[in-house]
Amino acid sequence: SPVAAFDFVIVGATGDLTMRKLLPAFFEQFCRGRIAVGTKIIGAARSDLTDEAYRQRAKEGLQQFAASAKSAPDKIEAFLPFLHYVSLDMSDRHADWTRLTSLLDQDEGRSRVFYVATAPRLYVPTAEAIAHNGLITDTTRLVLEKPIGTDLTSADAINDGVGKHFREEQVFRIDHYLGKQTVQNILALRFANPVLERIWDADSIACVQITAAETVGVGKRGPYYDTAGALRDMVQNHLLQVLCLVAMEPPTALSATDLRDEKLKILRALKPMTSEGVARDTIRGQYVAAAANGEQIPGYLEDLGTPASHTETWLALRTEIRTPRWAGVPFYIRTGKRMARKETEIVIQFRPQPWPVFQDTPEPGFLILRIQPDEGVSLSLSSKDPTAPGFRLRETQLDVSYPQAFGVRYPDSYEDLLMAAVAGDQVLFIRRDEVTAAWQWVEPILKGWAEDVRPMETYAAGTQGPASSDALLARDGFAWKESA
Ligand code: BG6
Repeated sequence: SPVAAFDFVIVGATGDLTMRKLLPAFFEQFCRGRIAVGTKIIGAARSDLTDEAYRQRAKEGLQQFAASAKSAPDKIEAFLPFLHYVSLDMSDRHADWTRLTSLLDQDEGRSRVFYVATAPRLYVPTAEAIAHNGLITDTTRLVLEKPIGTDLTSADAINDGVGKHFREEQVFRIDHYLGKQTVQNILALRFANPVLERIWDADSIACVQITAAETVGVGKRGPYYDTAGALRDMVQNHLLQVLCLVAMEPPTALSATDLRDEKLKILRALKPMTSEGVARDTIRGQYVAAAANGEQIPGYLEDLGTPASHTETWLALRTEIRTPRWAGVPFYIRTGKRMARKETEIVIQFRPQPWPVFQDTPEPGFLILRIQPDEGVSLSLSSKDPTAPGFRLRETQLDVSYPQAFGVRYPDSYEDLLMAAVAGDQVLFIRRDEVTAAWQWVEPILKGWAEDVRPMETYAAGTQGPASSDALLARDGFAWKESA
């Protein structure tokens, strides 16, 4: 059923994110009957375009990026009239705002969302300009894309600047990993299945491995990526959020306050990185050209077209969480571009059987939460091998594939998030103190790397990273669990 009609202004409406993610997300919601007549999705950007021209661009974008575009081509035509376009630099408070103002509905209680999908340096001027032009009602929300700053100081400047005009309840800091069904499902697995939650601690769990591997390089995003690197791009936000969901205590309720309070406690309990810690517990790497799968893959510098760069395209690190539940359990995080496989997963490795009942040593037990692409969960079990003489053990799998179990297309993460912003529900968005705590933990790593306490390494494109990556775990007696 449709949600009440709303106004949704996309600031930066001609950009990549809008075409790839935001418009397709609304289109899918439209196909499911959730967009009410009277809703306005208003694109704003500097280019001089008519509504017609913008709808044409949107149509091409949807044909290329919307999952349902092929099965429902006629729906695109029905969806386009919801789109409007305003040629306006929204970071300029003195520009002519009359057309935007006149498009916005004045109904009290109607949800109005400004989604800022521009460069972060424009966040504060945009928030100010929206305020200056009198467009903030009680039910107005501001959505900010990551990255919120490049360090704690710049994040504070954004949060302070925006906070002058919008209450924290009106600010929606998006982290699209929280929009992934499989990431939300971490909560279901843990807190709806006592059989798991009862073994979810240092007594039973030996280590946790979080991997977010991508096969793509930096593509057209080189200029942004080179100022960020994997730590800022993936760890400060997405992977620390995932870690929080894996490690947090049960929230009192699934409310924005309770959930975010619990995540915050984990961020604050992460073992602070010292300079020695950075040297010992972090590894950074940059991909270099290599042949993989019969293809010649260029290196990062070639992708970027520069002779040198200090930006990491890969990293691995080891941390601990200083709470009674997790004392002494290593948490490893690994992420990178141009790796061997596209896969995001969380591996929970269980402690071994303390007493040798069998002649064979059982394989370590693993619970693997597959976030993407092959959404599911599997539990490895040592079983009696019926093909071997005597009593031999072999590893077997209990395996659930979610798309099969539910018989659905897994929605893109933006669908849930956009509709949650419209509804004013902050449970899947990042609170200011989480951003602060995450930067506080990340900053010593940035500093240590800037001082070169852990030098940059290289890895061949199409591999799982530098060789030293294995040593990080081997030291503790573990190994990365690679899926076949
Ligand atoms: C984005 C990063 O936030 O997340 C990208 O900026 C990265 O560099 C992307 O590729 C990964 O998202 P997903 O949903 O494909 O895992």
